[in-house]
Amino acid sequence: MCGIIGYNGNLQAPGLLIEGLERLEYRGYDSAGIAVKDTKTSSFHVIKTVGKVAELKNRLPELDGISSTCGIGHTRWATHGGVCEVNAHPHTFGRVVLLHNGIIENHRELVEKFGLKGKLKTQTDTEIAAAVFDAYYQGNPKEAIRKAVKEFIGTYAFCIMFVEEDEAEASTDEIYAIRSVSPLVATLCDDGAFISSDITALIKYTNKYFVVPENHIVTLGKNTMTIEDMRGHKFTPEYLTVNWDISAAQKGGYKHYMMKEIMEQPDVIAATIHGRISDGLPSLANDNVPDDIFKGLHSIQIVACGTAMHAGMVFKAMIEPILRVPVTVNIASEYRYQDPIVDEHTLVIAISQSGETIDTLEALRLSKRYGATTLAVVNVQGSSIARESDYVVYTYAGPEIAVASTKAYTVQIATLYLIGCRIALANKKMTQKAAKQFIRNLEQVSAHIKSILDNQEPIKKATKYLKKATDAFFIGRGNDYALSLEGSLKLKEISYIHAEAYAAGELKHGTIALITEGVPVIAVATQRTVFSKTISNIREVNARGAYVILIMEEQTVVDKDLCKIKLTIPETEDVFSVFPTSAILQLIAYYSADARGLDVDMPRNLAKSVTVE
Ligand code: F6R
Repeated sequence: MCGIIGYNGNLQAPGLLIEGLERLEYRGYDSAGIAVKDTKTSSFHVIKTVGKVAELKNRLPELDGISSTCGIGHTRWATHGGVCEVNAHPHTFGRVVLLHNGIIENHRELVEKFGLKGKLKTQTDTEIAAAVFDAYYQGNPKEAIRKAVKEFIGTYAFCIMFVEEDEAEASTDEIYAIRSVSPLVATLCDDGAFISSDITALIKYTNKYFVVPENHIVTLGKNTMTIEDMRGHKFTPEYLTVNWDISAAQKGGYKHYMMKEIMEQPDVIAATIHGRISDGLPSLANDNVPDDIFKGLHSIQIVACGTAMHAGMVFKAMIEPILRVPVTVNIASEYRYQDPIVDEHTLVIAISQSGETIDTLEALRLSKRYGATTLAVVNVQGSSIARESDYVVYTYAGPEIAVASTKAYTVQIATLYLIGCRIALANKKMTQKAAKQFIRNLEQVSAHIKSILDNQEPIKKATKYLKKATDAFFIGRGNDYALSLEGSLKLKEISYIHAEAYAAGELKHGTIALITEGVPVIAVATQRTVFSKTISNIREVNARGAYVILIMEEQTVVDKDLCKIKLTIPETEDVFSVFPTSAILQLIAYYSADARGLDVDMPRNLAKSVTVE
């Protein structure tokens, strides 16, 4: 969601801020803006635009002749107020220039309390927050911040600049930041002081950063940075180092990030699992996850959203039959408002690429309050979910820039399989011999995915038909159903083709009414245990004229007239077929969207990191 960058140093700020915003584009946004402080006059210059950062860049000449080494920039994903230039950030009110990620829930009450009726230019909650900061500002920025944030109910990451009250006590060229829930990272490096919603915007300058602690005021001076809590006590941050560089956040010759990330899957899965295999068995010793937390569990509960939740469904299918303990997969936004049955015998696994998804974070917090042991499977180091869970097992997918998650998903499944195998061993539900065989199979999945990626032409051809479709259905049983949900999500989010996923046997209980001549049905039939059943369901849609694209193991034989197109995966055990099948489904979505001329990496209305509920 909203991207934030702030800079104070020696370099010229306008171009630097725009470049930072370009790196944050992947988070999803609909308008953008920057505010810079003129070094000579101390006045502020704000430029904003609806649409892409490229359009903002085109307006940079408006700042020609201005020297500025201090400023803030923002990409906005609209929540309060429509998408228009006036609602774009940064906002100014009185002596305050500010930008914000999050939602101020009590904005209406604040309008009343601070007498703002008729004084606001925008429809945003952010402008109201700016007015509150302004109301408390009497020449001391930190004092104003401390007082203002007490007024806010909601989530926020603010970057604030103040117009000098009077020359004598001027707070020259400083940017202040504070956050509650919404993420912010910062760094002080040779080029100056930086703050951002994520490290991607800063990676050109440094691979070292720290996560801004909640309810602390960060002051970005010219090449200085201080952090203090609400009582003014200094805080020394702990710097983290990312193990990737700027090239990992670039397209590397591919047309889209999404294709690059699909292609990276064999490598990132290998990178994630190899260091966690010892003597042929899974080991979480380096992650400091003890076996004890896996013993005597009464239940396992997954909390996650979207694609990450679909990874949880695949994990359930793997672990439940072995462990014989109930595993529930929960949509985090629902879980957090239910009264879940959780106690100290529950292991709650939070799955998240970004580690910042607010619903997953809140579900995790809720389960902790109920006494569960929590384990996070997270891609972004130091993210909120990683920090707040009792244990964390990181996936090493590197930065995922395309909004549609691909590599993060398969790497989550591989990591969960490894964890599942460890849980089974800890509970003596798997012999060492069986576990070693399981791990050998897991080590094969990179090669299986690669075999699909090396031969994309049949998949590309299959999407020629889909390109023109308005609706599509995905069907499968067991793990193939979990994959169908993910395949359908991927197709709709980037190609805008209406797609639905059904458990193959469920279709005839209503939805088959929608299967008419030519309707595309992507039938996933890779699970040997239910293969013949799925085939019967495919016959049912075939008999009603569906255009069937069938995904199955290469050695399997079916009647020629069962499908229009057959796409195959290498022969593999049921639980491992998810990997090559996922690659096919990702490519189906990719080629359908690309053939429709759509912005594959940044689909409409979507945000990469969903930090509002
Ligand atoms: C879809 C997609 C989303 C995310 C979901 C959770 O392609 O990317 O459904 O999976 O928003 O995000 P994380 O994993 O960051 O918690």
